[in-house]
Amino acid sequence: MNTYVAFYLKFKDENEMKILITGASSGLGAELARQYAKSENHLLLLARREERLYELRKELYEKCQSIDIIVVDVTNFSLLQEKLREIDSLDMVILNAGVSLGHTTKEDYIPTIAEFQKLFEVNVLSVHAVLEVLLPLFKKQKSGKIVFISSLASLFSMPSSKVYSSSKRALNAYAEGIRYKYNKYGIKVINILPGFIKSELTDKNEFNMPLILETSQGVSKIIRAIEKNRRQYIFPLRFYLIIKLLNLLPSFLREKIVNSLR
Ligand SMILES: NC(=O)c1ccc[n+]([C@@H]2O[C@H](COP(=O)([O-])OP(=O)(O)OC[C@H]3O[C@@H](n4cnc5c(N)ncnc54)[C@H](OP(=O)(O)O)[C@@H]3O)[C@@H](O)[C@H]2O)c1
Repeated sequence: MNTYVAFYLKFKDENEMKILITGASSGLGAELARQYAKSENHLLLLARREERLYELRKELYEKCQSIDIIVVDVTNFSLLQEKLREIDSLDMVILNAGVSLGHTTKEDYIPTIAEFQKLFEVNVLSVHAVLEVLLPLFKKQKSGKIVFISSLASLFSMPSSKVYSSSKRALNAYAEGIRYKYNKYGIKVINILPGFIKSELTDKNEFNMPLILETSQGVSKIIRAIEKNRRQYIFPLRFYLIIKLLNLLPSFLREKIVNSLR
């Protein structure tokens, strides 16, 4: 760590945060940027849609003058890592970039291997590509927060969302292992499992989404959980309890209920 970075870490204001948000061009990521946009914060906003990121920076300029844009496809792992290696200090990364295939209920639809692979590249592999670069930095700093954006869908797999659910379940396992290993270095690991929140991702769904939250409401809940360093935060509670109950049932009964929901 160079002397400037060591000096910065020692004397910076406790409320001042340098935050990297992946998938910041829409939905939860853009709203996280809006809610973290404060004069004392430095935001690094990452996504593919360059214009969206520049528009957001313009929108937030009055509240936060320190916003850097990183335009990259997170599945271009080498370019992604090259860009992240330029970061010399960081307080928090929010691993939010993610995709779904939409919940199509068409009986004959089978996801292609290419769709499956792409989804895993974005939702799981890119997360490791980011952390392969950032973990050594956080370790050197002896500080840092890693926030995973998983999903309630990781706890219950519907036939129409099995690929998405399996990617988020893989993410939970990965986050758990990272926590066990890096907690001792002063690194906080937070896993967020939201239910439905309004965004471009949920706009694709062709069914009524129970207990769906407004984007700003969902993101405020996420930020409160981050501030409290919750290891795992699952919401809305009512939806979580329903899933917990369903998971307690014998599997033949659960199968009957799931198929009746379709
Ligand atoms: N909304 C919900 O109900 C809900 C519930 C649980 C969990 N989540 C999770 O929350 C996260 C955000 O989703 P959202 O609902 O806000 O959806 P969204 O509006 O579609 O946002 C997805 C973000 O990910 C970025 N992204 C996707 N593929 C990328 C790629 N290859 N490279 C770089 N960036 C990429 C998109 O940016 P570009 O297209 O500009 O690259 C966009 O900024 C996802 O991980 C999702 O699984 C959402």
